Amino acid sequence: MNKVYKAHLLYTKEKDCFEVVENGYIAVGADGRVLGVSTHLPAEDAEVIDFGNRLLIPAMNDVHVHASQYRNQGIAMDLELLPWLQNYTFPEEMKYADLDYAERRYRRFIRDLWRFGTMRACVFATIHTESTRLLMRLFQEAGMGALVGKVAMNRNCPEGLSESVEDMAQGYESLIGDFSHDSHVRPIITPRFIPSCSPEMLRACGDLAAKYQLPVQSHLSENKDEIALVAQLEPESTCYGDAYNRYGLFGQTPTVMAHCVWTEGEELELMKKNGVMVAHCPTSNLNIASGLAPVRTFLDAGIPVGLGSDISGGHDLNIFRVMVYAIQVSKLCYQQNHDRKFLSLSEAFWIATKSAGSFFGRVGSFEPGYEFDALVINDSDLNHDDYSLLHRLERFIYLGDDRQIEHRFCCGKEVF
Ligand code: GUN
Ligand code: FE
Repeated sequence: MNKVYKAHLLYTKEKDCFEVVENGYIAVGADGRVLGVSTHLPAEDAEVIDFGNRLLIPAMNDVHVHASQYRNQGIAMDLELLPWLQNYTFPEEMKYADLDYAERRYRRFIRDLWRFGTMRACVFATIHTESTRLLMRLFQEAGMGALVGKVAMNRNCPEGLSESVEDMAQGYESLIGDFSHDSHVRPIITPRFIPSCSPEMLRACGDLAAKYQLPVQSHLSENKDEIALVAQLEPESTCYGDAYNRYGLFGQTPTVMAHCVWTEGEELELMKKNGVMVAHCPTSNLNIASGLAPVRTFLDAGIPVGLGSDISGGHDLNIFRVMVYAIQVSKLCYQQNHDRKFLSLSEAFWIATKSAGSFFGRVGSFEPGYEFDALVINDSDLNHDDYSLLHRLERFIYLGDDRQIEHRFCCGKEVF
């Protein structure tokens, strides 16, 4: 049977303005997709659920997060990228060879994603096939959507985090076999980044993406030392993005690249041409001192953008908080160059919902045909004065946390 939810509805069809429906109704079909939004009760037979004075908004999407770095959240941010990986990150990821260790951390990670209202995520696991499979099963059990990457790496890393090209491909094939029938929890081809993968490894990743038509995620132009290393490792390539492109890892299938702090010129053009999404990770860029990504330039170029928490380069799993950082970082960019207008609230919200959601299908809006991914916000403790609905949402984004999220829905089903 169809369901109808009544609440104050706020969402973004376009980046420049919110749709606000006071005391609105949203009808959701048995397939979990939105039928329509209206200001009166739809006539057809449906179960009506009344959320009263609460806000109903699309759920959050995190397009770049390392589940296997959750233990390091909030610590070890005193180094830049390359030494940070060697000293803090790789030693932690090696521990995921142990399934019991992995299960404890992965359960906590998924619980906390859920707490903060993130119903879809692009996730890095580790090289380990069995703990990656476990993470995917835990997402299935939770009823949340995830693209999960077994991380491909075989150079510039400790031996315990290196895998042969054959083992990498076999591991992927086995995960693909297990999850081929699930439309919400699927593998995503994940070469860690160019410095971690030999040319053979990169080629094998591109071949897997093409053969199984799987999406791709990685890191791009995050840090200047990293970019210099890539130029040395891939001397034929005209830019870092071109190195991925040569291996079929740059938009040949849906692709999301984290950071793009230093992307410009040819790389920007290639991203635009190939429709590669940027996972903007402002907290990570600040913590490991990478730089400020030019989000306005991406938006103006029509390059798709989503937000990533990038735990543990980033310290905050709460995408609402990441939205605030994205706005604040854009204001720092604006101070450097007044041609780059800073992000508005509706732009940040649209980036986190409809724009990021496009990586998962029709996700992130309340328009007809979209999967009903939604959060019910009870902001009564923040709404102690006569705030407008938009100001109530803004205060929740800036001041709220999981205590105000009363219900979470993913693809039409409530997630408990
Ligand atoms: N580049 C390659 N690996 C990583 C990682 O784990 N985190 C970040 N922020 N950048 C990376
Ligand atoms: Fe990352």
